[in-house]
Amino acid sequence: MRTEQGRVRVRVPAKVNVQLAVGAARPDGFHDLANVFLAVGLHDEITVTPADELRITCAGPDAGQVPLDRTNLAARAALALAERHGIDPRVHLHIDKDIPVAGGMAGGSADGAGALLACDALWSLGSTREELLALCAELGSDVPFSLIGGAALGTGRGELLTPLDVGGDFHWVFAVADAGLSTPTVFREFDRLAAHTDVPPPAADPALLDALRTGDATALAATLGNDLQPAALALRPALSATLAAGTAAGALAALVSGSGPTTAFLAKTADDAERVARTLLASGTCRTARAATSPAAGATVVERTAP
Ligand code: C5P
Repeated sequence: MRTEQGRVRVRVPAKVNVQLAVGAARPDGFHDLANVFLAVGLHDEITVTPADELRITCAGPDAGQVPLDRTNLAARAALALAERHGIDPRVHLHIDKDIPVAGGMAGGSADGAGALLACDALWSLGSTREELLALCAELGSDVPFSLIGGAALGTGRGELLTPLDVGGDFHWVFAVADAGLSTPTVFREFDRLAAHTDVPPPAADPALLDALRTGDATALAATLGNDLQPAALALRPALSATLAAGTAAGALAALVSGSGPTTAFLAKTADDAERVARTLLASGTCRTARAATSPAAGATVVERTAP
């Protein structure tokens, strides 16, 4: 019988991109971005325990859509950290999934960052934040932000982060669509739509950074922007009806979250957000609607039991 050998549980937030400015495709296929990330209070939890071999399980309403093999970012994170330190990655990674899958809210990235932090603690490696951030960047463009949370400007392909000040809480509603969208497909559609046009270098909007700094929801609503939105709408035209339903319900602003298909609605107050969520759900234009507040803390160890 296996005795208890220690366990680490890490909580990781979802994100919304309040500005996603996309430049032209680079020679390596990625796009330079000015990506203003804001962590929101929807979370996945990753629990890591010693096991006979690396294995992943997942629980939650969307668990059936999560790959349980070594393509899962949580597995890739454990393998990368183990390889770096010459460790045999014999762990069980359990994901309690509350972030929409393939929704443009960095759910997979959250699991990668969470697994990295959890394994680092389980194996008592004491990696520095810089070491963890470098590994996160190897795993994916959004993974470093999942580790730090709060708010940040991501440049390069989104992995070079400058933390940003946020002067107050922002209240959001997220409308989850029936099926996910693949991020590479959305970027390819962006390229197709941008063909024969001059794509300017991406830059953060100073008015948007100001709105974050002062915690001004009305000013933030006026400056939200996502250059991937036309591509996501071209691939999933039904999202226009979701955006319209949320705006009609009284949201200050509506946009596609990241590469979609989750749509995000900014509300003035937490009560307004609950009301917009109820109206969106009743509209039949989305599978589910969730209210959440930002900013949220980055990946955090919430439980650690000694071996
Ligand atoms: O970095 P990550 O693995 O999350 O990226 C997934 C895909 O999204 C990439 O393979 C690429 O097609 C696209 N992408 C991009 N430019 C970025 C980030 C992602 O084209 N800055």
